[in-house]
Amino acid sequence: MTAVSLEQDGDIAIVRVDNPPVNALSAAVRTGLLEAVRTIEGNGRIEGAVLLCAGRTFMAGADVREFGKELPGPDLPTVVQAIASSPKPWLAAIHGTALGGGLEVALGCHWRVAAPDARLGLPEVKLGLIPGAGGTQLLPRIVGLERALDLVASGRQIEAAEARELDLVDALIEGDLREGAIAFLRERLAAGAIPPRAAERPVPPFDQTAVAKLAAGIRRRARGLEAPVQAAESVLAAATLPLAEGLACERATFLRLRESAQAKALRHLFFAEREAAKVPGLEAVVPREIRHVGVIGAGTMGTGIAIAFLDAGYPVTIVETSAEALARGRARIEEAYQGLVKRGRLGQAEAAARLARLEGTSEPEALAAADLVVEAVFEDMAVKSALFAHLGRILRPGAVIATNTSYLDVAALARASSRPRDFLGLHFFAPANVMRLLEVVRTDKVAPEVLATGLAVARKLGKIAVVAGNGDGFIGNRIWAFYRRQLEYLLEDGADPYTIDAAMTAYGFPMGPFAVFDLSGLDIALAQRKRRAATRPAGERYVRIPDILCELGRLGRKTGAGWYRYTDGRAEPDPAVLEVIAAERTRRGTPQQSFTAEAIQAHARAAMVNEAARVLAEGIALRPSDIDVVLVHGYGFPSWRGGPLFEADTIGLDRVLADVVAMAAVGGVGSEPAPLLVELARRGSTFGAWAGKESA
Ligand code: 3HC
Repeated sequence: MTAVSLEQDGDIAIVRVDNPPVNALSAAVRTGLLEAVRTIEGNGRIEGAVLLCAGRTFMAGADVREFGKELPGPDLPTVVQAIASSPKPWLAAIHGTALGGGLEVALGCHWRVAAPDARLGLPEVKLGLIPGAGGTQLLPRIVGLERALDLVASGRQIEAAEARELDLVDALIEGDLREGAIAFLRERLAAGAIPPRAAERPVPPFDQTAVAKLAAGIRRRARGLEAPVQAAESVLAAATLPLAEGLACERATFLRLRESAQAKALRHLFFAEREAAKVPGLEAVVPREIRHVGVIGAGTMGTGIAIAFLDAGYPVTIVETSAEALARGRARIEEAYQGLVKRGRLGQAEAAARLARLEGTSEPEALAAADLVVEAVFEDMAVKSALFAHLGRILRPGAVIATNTSYLDVAALARASSRPRDFLGLHFFAPANVMRLLEVVRTDKVAPEVLATGLAVARKLGKIAVVAGNGDGFIGNRIWAFYRRQLEYLLEDGADPYTIDAAMTAYGFPMGPFAVFDLSGLDIALAQRKRRAATRPAGERYVRIPDILCELGRLGRKTGAGWYRYTDGRAEPDPAVLEVIAAERTRRGTPQQSFTAEAIQAHARAAMVNEAARVLAEGIALRPSDIDVVLVHGYGFPSWRGGPLFEADTIGLDRVLADVVAMAAVGGVGSEPAPLLVELARRGSTFGAWAGKESA
């Protein structure tokens, strides 16, 4: 099989790229395309070329697997340039996704036509890059500076219809794409209607103030990420520099960023996200078919979960105990959709169609025919056990039963249902319709096809699924709880919550941990501490400050005060909290110390890495990269650091271990260095090289 083949349909050349799975622009494709340009140029009987792709998609970009290595063959700008300067007109026929370098090749063509369900985008920023083959210079020449700024800096994909409105696509082709594309090209050639290529057009006039405002917004939102800022710079340069200079600057930035620490970290995550879905033993397992979903509980979590399923096309029946609670839940879902419509994110008709798939009832019996039931009721073992016992009696045989518990023992809940083979945890993160992470919790008893169903459903919901073992807090909440404890020690020793929050936002988290605690509610953490009281190791240091805040009714945002006080929803540091901390410190006789931002960050990272090492050694997570995915997508760990374990590997485990030893000295009992971390550091090894639980 050749990566690029050439055939002729009369006077039209058909250039076909075939490089599974996503037609990435690997060396063979670049070489093949360049040869095709030359062959077509040399063939007097050919009037124009249609570029299309085999398989599921148009070219999805440069081959990410080639990055970090010596690039063989011609580079991509040479290929785009060759197409763009060829005397024969080219047309790109797009299906699936035209992304990154794939879209840049299409931008080198005279025309682009697309299947109605195609998507286009320049997602390079998500890999810590900017487009490197003309994207930042050619796109603004077609869609204007403002649109180009948005698309390149966000990396978002747009649907073919929007691309058509922007003239990024010249026609949408219903039916056979190849035939439609050939007909389109023939018609244009016959009419002699050959427009200038993107490279030959000027950047259309634009509103200076609006552009400056957009660029400022991009810089503000970047939060430590270099790529969006550089992407915006490069797009802006298109307005002032001649094309050749703009292209040269773009390429230089691309090459520099490709070798950057941020790009390496984001590449790690790209592959980690895809690896997470691969679970040993499930390769050949066929998931159960899920057509109808039941959600029990119409609170914040339940409604978010219902929306996630409705968005993915599932009919959903939501169950609540009372008509009032049901009405509140329905209203919340309607509000969420109205909000999307108002912000122009969803069409009115589509919102109505999604709502039409929703049914509500107070009778769990209505779920008798459901294929999957997700429970999202009050976090209480007795309440949930009673519910699952009932579901076990009424659901159809083979229905998959899931709990959204964040801390409870999934195996015990599975036993309560009397259907442990059909039972698993689906731990969504709030807001469940927005957050991309889903922990899929397995027990010893779950049937392989039920676990596979959890993963398949996650994919359909557009979630990144990570399989977790059934331990307290699974992967994420377990690490987060340990991290919280270690930060509380710092707090009692002298770092105030606002300084800690500032240090962690400077590190790259979107919110500081104490602001997050306020958001999730201090009572949630209190309940977890109470649950843990029975198993807490004797002599473990315990910080009472959050308990005192709870006693004072400061439960976080929902009560208008927690670690912060809230005025009109705005968080402000509160001297009353500092007084509570100072009083407790005096009572304990703890001398006040001061901590730099770097010390706080090192302490926090040490906490995450140390607990992650235990989670790994216990087999709660399958692999280190799964933990990185969980922390980045569920807890706001800065993506450009690649996750705590990737970062630890980058820094060197001996250095991280030194931080852990310092952290353990502060925490005492229960904070000791994890044996796996100690062992890897001793061997001079890394988490990335760790071969699995057995080798620990
Ligand atoms: N290079 C190499 N491999 C790639 C790839 C790429 N650009 N894109 C996807 N793959 C691989 C994946 O790793 C995966 O491999 P695996 O089966 O061994 O795990 C396989 O293709 C399928 O990928 P997905 O599981 O993601 O399949 P989906 O159907 O869910 O999604 C997709 C397809 C939308 C194309 C998605 O893979 C994607 O977004 N890819 C990345 C696209 C991208 O970032 N392009 C820009 C690259 S940088 C660039 O072009 C620089 C240029 O400006 C010079």
